[in-house]
Amino acid sequence: MLDIQKTANSEMADAAPAPVDPATIRREDYRPPAWFIPEIELDFQLDLERTVVRSKLDVRRSKSASADEPLVLQGDDITPTAVKVDGAAWNDWKLIEGDLVLPLTGASHIVEIEVELDPSTNTQLMGLYGSNGMLCTQCEAEGFRRITFAPDRPDVLSRYQVRMEADKAQFPVLLCNGDKVAEGDGENGRHWVQWNDPWPKPSYLFALVAGDLVSNNDSFTTRSGKPVELNIWVRDGDLDRTGHAMQALKDSMRWDEETYGREYDLGLFNIVAVSDFNMGAMENKGLNIFNSRYILADPEVATDADFDGIEGVVAHEYFHNWSGNRVTCRDWFQLSLKEGFTVYRDQSFSADMGSAALKRIEDVRILRAAQFPEDAGPLAHPIRPESYQEISNFYTATIYNKGAEVIRMMNTLMGPENFRKGTDLYFDRHDGEAATCEDFVTAMEDGGEIDLKQFRKWYETPGTPRVTAKLSHDPQTGTATVQLSQKIAQNGEKPKSSELVIPLRTALLDPETGAHEGEQLLLLDQTEQSFVLEGHKDHPVLSINRGFSAPIILESNQTAEELAFLSAHDDDPFARFEAVQRLMTGYLTAKVSGTPVDRDIILQAVAKILADKTIDPAFLAELILLPSEAFLGDQMVEVDPQAIHEEREKLRGKIAVQFEKQFRKLYKSCWPGEFSLDAEARAKRKLRNVTLGYLAASFTEDAAEVAFEQYREADNMTAMQGALAVLSHLEAEERAVAFDDFYKRFKGNPLVLDKWFSLQVMSQRSDTLKRVDGLSRHPDFTMSNPNRVRALYGAFTGNQVRFHDPSGKGYRMIADMVIALDKQNPQTAARFIPQLGRWRRYERGRSELMRLALEKIAAQPDLSKDVAEQVHKSLA
Ligand code: PHE
Ligand code: ZN
Repeated sequence: MLDIQKTANSEMADAAPAPVDPATIRREDYRPPAWFIPEIELDFQLDLERTVVRSKLDVRRSKSASADEPLVLQGDDITPTAVKVDGAAWNDWKLIEGDLVLPLTGASHIVEIEVELDPSTNTQLMGLYGSNGMLCTQCEAEGFRRITFAPDRPDVLSRYQVRMEADKAQFPVLLCNGDKVAEGDGENGRHWVQWNDPWPKPSYLFALVAGDLVSNNDSFTTRSGKPVELNIWVRDGDLDRTGHAMQALKDSMRWDEETYGREYDLGLFNIVAVSDFNMGAMENKGLNIFNSRYILADPEVATDADFDGIEGVVAHEYFHNWSGNRVTCRDWFQLSLKEGFTVYRDQSFSADMGSAALKRIEDVRILRAAQFPEDAGPLAHPIRPESYQEISNFYTATIYNKGAEVIRMMNTLMGPENFRKGTDLYFDRHDGEAATCEDFVTAMEDGGEIDLKQFRKWYETPGTPRVTAKLSHDPQTGTATVQLSQKIAQNGEKPKSSELVIPLRTALLDPETGAHEGEQLLLLDQTEQSFVLEGHKDHPVLSINRGFSAPIILESNQTAEELAFLSAHDDDPFARFEAVQRLMTGYLTAKVSGTPVDRDIILQAVAKILADKTIDPAFLAELILLPSEAFLGDQMVEVDPQAIHEEREKLRGKIAVQFEKQFRKLYKSCWPGEFSLDAEARAKRKLRNVTLGYLAASFTEDAAEVAFEQYREADNMTAMQGALAVLSHLEAEERAVAFDDFYKRFKGNPLVLDKWFSLQVMSQRSDTLKRVDGLSRHPDFTMSNPNRVRALYGAFTGNQVRFHDPSGKGYRMIADMVIALDKQNPQTAARFIPQLGRWRRYERGRSELMRLALEKIAAQPDLSKDVAEQVHKSLA
């Protein structure tokens, strides 16, 4: 009886539909809008504490919607103070879960709504908020509904006319999307500006800014001869730090004309830098709003990497004007349509502006550090997700960076000419529309004459494919056979075979000289496949996935000798870099798991690299860097951060001691001289910092002295930060002296102060946990500024050995911080969950402590949707 009952019950459970969580939004549930709003008029009476927003919506019932479909306008944390329909006061409305529901009967109406806001209490930084005395907005993804009631979905496009009015002394500058069409003075010291944006846009691209700002004013002439006024708006005093961003903007505008045939489409392009911002920057039409960290730079306060970050983000936001604004997303499941494509575009731009090889190494490093772990953990999702609870949680490395890799693979498969034909068709066909990823792929097929049927699997498959490559050789026939197979493992599960289309740029190198007769594109599109290559008398050396042509994990039967050979001879810079990384990774993971392994081969490889005079300093710096502790952890079944740290430090120390003389010589030869931002000077600064790190690791007595000297003499932030990074790990008294000096010097500059926080908590010293705790109480620490929170806690969670202290203190600190921050800024709080969410990957003790930290967060009452989704998925 019991057994039977049990069986029956479980069968019933199987047959019942999966419980529908009302909070979950599914891609398959997409329905077109019932109402369109072709025109929106907005009137803002702006004030830090009491802003009045009046809207006038021209609402039109969709032909496909039924006549009794009410008008539903999304709202979040707002109440109407007045509603009118067709000119008359209207009381027949309800607020249902924040949304304004109006039972309208006609095919079109004019709806007017008034809302009052207090921007000064908006700590979420979504909607209209105050930052440093100015007012600004952030609407993507669902922030517009915190400003006024509207169909806040990206497939409803409207033309906006906006009138802004504010106190003239407090807010002399009033900015919005589009063109300024009128302005004037009002009563009581107030003034107003009227803006008109001719391009229909979804609400997430709306923006306004009011503040006491000054601008770096410049101009650009499009290739068809249209003049564009350019402004970068900042606070007085920051103006002389906007030059690099302005140059990047002009370079981007030219590049998009030349590379994609895309011209700018307004007479004005404004950028505003704000200090409180949840993300990097935002592509609002004609009015990009930036985290000040991606605008402000001069050599004294910004590192070379900061300069690159600015160039890349300015380009990214500018490129969105076509990939995002002119062609937008139908719904948020299509986010990668604009983000993946735009990241690919900004990566290509930066590659063209500087060194393509270094850029590729950097991009892959980011992909592996941020996206691979995501893809392997409980929060894995395809680049086009199937469901979400809070869309803010899906601004991920998968959507952005893996999304970019997928576009890059299309380029590799199609070739640049057909790729361009595809993008031309895409922009033409969907201009002014809200499109889907499917629309993009179809346009690429039609325009680029290629069949991407099977390639589409990349859009629905989570997880990083593992590709096994085996090379065999038959001396008799002179044939080499590359045997490939693919599988995907997810969240600790057993790997399953997969059938993705994986383009692998491959070369077979002559085992003596390293020469080869050209590259081949091996197209792996089955679970297992062999490629036979003729004309190889001797057993060649396999160089595969050159340029990282596919975002995969490669498993090959290559020996350490072969990797050492590639590290000396491969003519593809990425592949050469990769060979050294794999050589070192193989050694270190073997050491950590107690497998005997040969170290000399690494030392010989490094010796060869150091002796190779053809390598330029920047590339040399990359080649001699050890893989990060986090990356090493990712290669292991069970992560033991302490063991990884120790083995890595031992190898670093050994290399440092063995080549001390060379490092010292290199260090001296990189004496920079006059500061310059050109490639050669930057390369020297980079190599100088890397060799300084090795000098410190060689236990020479003067390491602290040399680093301190570099700090003292530095006339630029790259050298200064490099010196501090080295000093941060040391016990020497120079450490405190330098950090105190740095604080005094830069305490008025928040962006530099962020570095001061980060550098200290990235220290390997055993007192780092205490320091994090102390810094969280420092008068300059605040939870209200996302940059500061990331500078302290974000940097700390990246410090693998100290964050994963066996006591679990690091985990508890993050959990407590998340609980506190969630009340203020859920979006930024939720971004810390993935660090704990990887608990299953760690050795038992830590794993349990990480899980407990997550449980503690989960047990809080009133968690935000943002944090709740991430925590529950991580524990599931
Ligand atoms: N769309 C922005 C970008 O990638 C990112 C962003 C998302 C900014 C959400 C703010 C809020 O360019
Ligand atoms: Zn973007």
